Amino acid sequence: MKRYVQVGCGWRGVDMFAVPMVKHFREVATLCGVYDTNPKRAALVSKKAETPIPVYTNFDELLRACQPDTVIVTTIDSQHDTYVVKALRAGCDVICEKPLTTTPEKCLAIQKAQKETGKKVTVTFNLRFHPYFKRVKELVRSGLVGEIYSIDYQWMLDTRHGADYFRRWHRKRENSGSLLIHKSSHHFDIVNWLLEDAPVEVNAYGARRFYGTNGENRGERCLTCHHKDQCDFFLDIHTPDLKERYLECEDADGYIRDGCVFSPEIDIEDTVALSVRYSGGALMNYSLIAHSPYEGLRLVLNGSLGRLEFQKASSRKPNYNRETDNFIKFYSRSGEEIFFETEPTVKGGHGGADYALQKSLFCGHDPEPLGQMADLRAGILSIGVGMAANVSLAENRRVLLTEILKDEKEI
Ligand SMILES: NC(=O)c1ccc[n+]([C@@H]2O[C@H](COP(=O)([O-])OP(=O)(O)OC[C@H]3O[C@@H](n4cnc5c(N)ncnc54)[C@H](O)[C@@H]3O)[C@@H](O)[C@H]2O)c1
Repeated sequence: MKRYVQVGCGWRGVDMFAVPMVKHFREVATLCGVYDTNPKRAALVSKKAETPIPVYTNFDELLRACQPDTVIVTTIDSQHDTYVVKALRAGCDVICEKPLTTTPEKCLAIQKAQKETGKKVTVTFNLRFHPYFKRVKELVRSGLVGEIYSIDYQWMLDTRHGADYFRRWHRKRENSGSLLIHKSSHHFDIVNWLLEDAPVEVNAYGARRFYGTNGENRGERCLTCHHKDQCDFFLDIHTPDLKERYLECEDADGYIRDGCVFSPEIDIEDTVALSVRYSGGALMNYSLIAHSPYEGLRLVLNGSLGRLEFQKASSRKPNYNRETDNFIKFYSRSGEEIFFETEPTVKGGHGGADYALQKSLFCGHDPEPLGQMADLRAGILSIGVGMAANVSLAENRRVLLTEILKDEKEI
């Protein structure tokens, strides 16, 4: 039986880790205590898990009192490093939500603590456990595509999902490192994992074309906004979950969950385009938009033996068709078009990926032929692209990853 503690008791922390651990993995895992800078939100863990879970008023006390084997870190992105480093130095393994952290300095501090303590850091990239991505990985591993020469990758967030990053802490670079780190680290990790290679150079362009000062129906927050009746982005914070987790906890820390998506305070991009070069020579074109009319992705791998195309759309897409909007197909050099089936997606977080990841985390993951569990190196390389892209945007130039991760070769 392993002993766990958790820091960060927001939506993801509670629904992905605390509650499943208590309800579905109690035979192998014990949640010994939790900490969050907002004690009211931390106290909700017991209610959601329907089991009393001790709440601590500071992290050091949580570690001292609980003596955990493993610390789960699910705070806002920019705070991960503090807890990862403290946990490692206290002799614990760490499970950290993506992104590992937000800046090169924080990244190097984590790397140093891990090297000095020898403890293990796992970064939870649930997309690796999604049936479609798993199938693409199997196909690449089988040698179907041959050597991968280039990648075309588009990720589209619709205005329901995408807008949410502009309402709350993510909208400030200092909290999330921008969408290039917060969101795209998922996508870059997938490519690093498929290629089994490391990115070395990045050139980025980015802009804010839709949110921020681009909109007119501006207020401080939806709750008090004069435009709520005509604004497409009105969020009703009185829905039961949002009310309990955020509105009723506001007085403890002032965290506003329904901030205006047109706030002038927003300093992250909603539109980005990148070129990335990998150490083995593969080249990637990548784009992310957070204001698409529909949500989905397109990933194309151009290889020595042919072209693998993977497309997926959210069921919210207008005229959504399960068969034609979602596919994995391969064009061989001899003129064949081959479609591939996947395991069915299942209900639950992210098409069943969240449950598969939980099972692997808590029940063990040997043998793991596809290498789905991401280690510290994978966590660092996934944010390496975003961190280099942030420098590229600020300085309007190409950036080598070795400029920001000085001892990348030793990762
Ligand atoms: N893998 C995925 O699919 C996925 C999905 C959503 C979120 N996430 C990640 O999960 C983490 C949490 O995101 P969320 O959506 O639950 O956000 P959230 O805003 O719901 O929760 C964040 C929590 O962190 C707490 N917090 C803030 N600063 C803190 C500090 N210094 N110390 C302790 N606690 C602090 C807040 O009070 C809040 O309870 C983020 O790292 C995010 O990137 C991953």
